[in-house]
Amino acid sequence: MAVREVVVWPDPRLRQETQVVDQVDDRVRALYRDLCDTMYAENGLGIAAIQIGDPTKMFLVEPKLAGRDENDLPVAFINPEVLWASEETQLSDEGCLSFPDIYVEVERPMRARMRAMDLDGNIFEIEGEGLLARCLLHELDHLTGKLLVDFVGPLKRQMIKRKLQKAAARAADG
Ligand code: NI
Repeated sequence: MAVREVVVWPDPRLRQETQVVDQVDDRVRALYRDLCDTMYAENGLGIAAIQIGDPTKMFLVEPKLAGRDENDLPVAFINPEVLWASEETQLSDEGCLSFPDIYVEVERPMRARMRAMDLDGNIFEIEGEGLLARCLLHELDHLTGKLLVDFVGPLKRQMIKRKLQKAAARAADG
């Protein structure tokens, strides 16, 4: 188990093609544990494997948000797909561990139904509304390389890039 470094945009690893999981083996279980540790260390509601540089089709969602007990482990979504999304939408600011301190207003469906495989290899479905729907669709976007900056125009994109590069330079200076 280990807290891994979160890959920050514009790192090209965030655009890698992700790979389907054929079976949940020790590698996938170890990846899950690292994602749990990293998500909690960063106070994220969700995290995708690609955000720690691993292009596996998997993401995690914080248990309470996913409708479980708050003391449960984060919920793993392996090879997830959207089955249905509502016509009705919601508009709200969205953050991402790969864009520290950046918030972007994103329009999303108000409700969405998703199917995925769990860590035991079983297929399950979940329907989310509001923040859960937003979180599920945000994490799913990561698995196709889609990022917050893809929802903004070129000027805002440049602004975000400069802000993140300045923050990275400050961090490098200690
Ligand atoms: Ni994200």
